[in-house]
Amino acid sequence: MSSLSNKRILLGVTGGIAAYKSADLVRRLQDAGADVRVVMTPAACEFITPLTMQALSGNPVHTSLLDSEAEAAMGHIELARWGDLLLVAPASADFVARLSNGQGDDLLSTLCLACPAPIAVAPAMNQAMYRSDSTRDNLATLKQRGIHIFGPAEGVQACGDVGPGRVLEPLELVNCAAGLFATGSLAGKKVVITAGPTREPLDPVRYISNYSSGKMGYALAAAAAEAGAETVLISGPVNLPPPERLTTIKVVSAMEMHKAAINAAEGADMFIATAAVADYRPVEMADQKIKKSGDEITLQLTKNPDIVASVAAMEQRPVTIGFAAESENLEQYARGKLERKKLDMVIANDITGDGIGFNSDDNQVALVSPDGIEKLPKLNKQVLARELIARLAQLL
Ligand code: C5P
Repeated sequence: MSSLSNKRILLGVTGGIAAYKSADLVRRLQDAGADVRVVMTPAACEFITPLTMQALSGNPVHTSLLDSEAEAAMGHIELARWGDLLLVAPASADFVARLSNGQGDDLLSTLCLACPAPIAVAPAMNQAMYRSDSTRDNLATLKQRGIHIFGPAEGVQACGDVGPGRVLEPLELVNCAAGLFATGSLAGKKVVITAGPTREPLDPVRYISNYSSGKMGYALAAAAAEAGAETVLISGPVNLPPPERLTTIKVVSAMEMHKAAINAAEGADMFIATAAVADYRPVEMADQKIKKSGDEITLQLTKNPDIVASVAAMEQRPVTIGFAAESENLEQYARGKLERKKLDMVIANDITGDGIGFNSDDNQVALVSPDGIEKLPKLNKQVLARELIARLAQLL
């Protein structure tokens, strides 16, 4: 599976006849799962139009450092920070020289100076220019600075010469780029995660809910996307920004979460239920605010559907994981849920522990499966999420 899933590639195109191959390169990078933004030098725009690259990449093309409108939309520093890789293909002899000099005289060279992510260049030039001492020295300097050099290939050149200096073919460049990233353990998989509390409305201004912060589910969703999964996060109301690189579906009530979960679980490889779903909802939601009257009020509640159990009962079920927040008999209750809800694993945590569970930044869990139990140490929720995703990926 491709390790470019969910990766963001800034593709720099410089002026040379090989620029026409960059159009195909955009497509090949996208086929490998990457999101691509194109940056072109003025000379590149003489060989291929920004419009072509915009249509192919589905993103605006960046061409000028001094364009106030483009800077307002996404400034050059923001753009430099956006990418997981800055790939310059083709890289002309002039661009290689400017890069090795550390110049920042156009948008692309400035991005190279500001980019915290790895940089790779794919040289493309006439064989004599490639063999020149200047170009050799410049490429050696780039290599020494940790910049990756992809190619060039040898063969017949546009000018009729034969020798080194042909840009690598788009698929070869995709493979070189993918090689820079560790293979995502969930690349090519679809993962659906529920998170946060649900709210069960009593009337237009009141609801029944719980203290779930959504932190564990959001951290798991971010870790799944980081591991390359196409990730859908179904979230109840929380005060967290939606994680990047995944689809977040916002819901309010358990019934809404149930509907969204069943839809999203169709065709999914894994379903992870971290949401603290309200077990019951008011039988009726009053149209108007319920008025104060008498000393007592009786609310009639009805049971909500069990979302994770419904997913586990689907004909083509994904690997289904539940959470169990318990205050006593952790393993016994977790095992009960595993069997009753027909789950593949239950991640159990003791909510009575200090500084763990609901609303805190740390958590300590045990993984309960039909094969046994594995206890993990107390960890920050982000770190724990990566640990859990690495283990869950093995279930697929
Ligand atoms: O039965 P209990 O609520 O303790 O089970 C917890 C697990 O079941 C969690 O994974 C939770 O997300 C899931 N759950 C659910 N739908 C419900 C209740 C719980 O998906 N209505």
